[in-house]
Amino acid sequence: MKTHKFKLQSHLLDVMQHHIISMRDFSRDDIDLILKKTKEFEPIARGKRSDLLSGKILATLFYEPSTRTRLSFETAMKRLGGEVVDMGGIELSSVAKGENLADTIRVVGNYADTIVLRHPREGAARMAAEFSKVPIINAGDGAGHHPTQTLLDLYTIMRESSLLDIKIALLGDLKYGRTVHSLAYALSLYHAEMTLVSPPQLKISDIFKKDLKKQGAVIREVSNIDDVIGDIDVLYVTRIQKERFPDPAEYQKVAGIYRITEELLKKARDNLIVMHPLPRVDEIDPAVDRTKYARYFEQSFYGVPIRMTLLSMAMEAV
Ligand code: NCD
Repeated sequence: MKTHKFKLQSHLLDVMQHHIISMRDFSRDDIDLILKKTKEFEPIARGKRSDLLSGKILATLFYEPSTRTRLSFETAMKRLGGEVVDMGGIELSSVAKGENLADTIRVVGNYADTIVLRHPREGAARMAAEFSKVPIINAGDGAGHHPTQTLLDLYTIMRESSLLDIKIALLGDLKYGRTVHSLAYALSLYHAEMTLVSPPQLKISDIFKKDLKKQGAVIREVSNIDDVIGDIDVLYVTRIQKERFPDPAEYQKVAGIYRITEELLKKARDNLIVMHPLPRVDEIDPAVDRTKYARYFEQSFYGVPIRMTLLSMAMEAV
């Protein structure tokens, strides 16, 4: 444990200066250590008392809607004995008066020990880190990255399936979905066999694809989930990111175009797990919730212990 502790801290301190911006900031060794550490936090996430972060304050700045990410960070912090201050949505803060992100970050860094930031602009977290004297944790920057979601996704795969030699299908909005951008990158470090499944309009961009290939990722692209459902261990479903479409008419063309049903799952392997970062709209039929395949609600729970690990790292408590 001691070596791990040293390695984690030195990596964060020297390379990332504590910030968690993108999965690119993590090596596979780092990820493995985080996943291992997270197992220790699970009992605390389930209610065992801890005061590891007592006296520390986390600030949550969400410039976009959030339920799971914001509340699981808050739960993680509070279950570790820390406190949370929340900006309360942009309409309640000075953002509504025209304050820029750099000033907000400089000010909030005087109040809190770590800042969790979600912002609609790609690159916003990286920019915020330049102005921040406290660690910035990226909770999603536009269609860019969502590293803490990816870590909880990897943890879910490890707990509910296996991270070794997995065959995974990433289904849905691969163009605008930041969760799949971060996850595909991380899975390439695990040499997962990835199938990207999306309607042609929502295919992953060439830039991301090139990046994945550079990482040595084995990927294939198909447009129909029926083609692969019998040959995968993990099905990762995503919502079409309606809010990121420049033209609402373009969204209408793809709305409701894919849906996971019990019928489809009849062709699945016995050990398949179905994941989804949530919120879902209509891409998974609620009848699937009762099947042995569904893991998306467990997945949302794992956000708490993962974020405990990340907060402890950022605040140098582990
Ligand atoms: C995701 C997000 O915000 O990118 N939600 C989440 O954090 N669990 C997925 C989404 O909004 O579709």
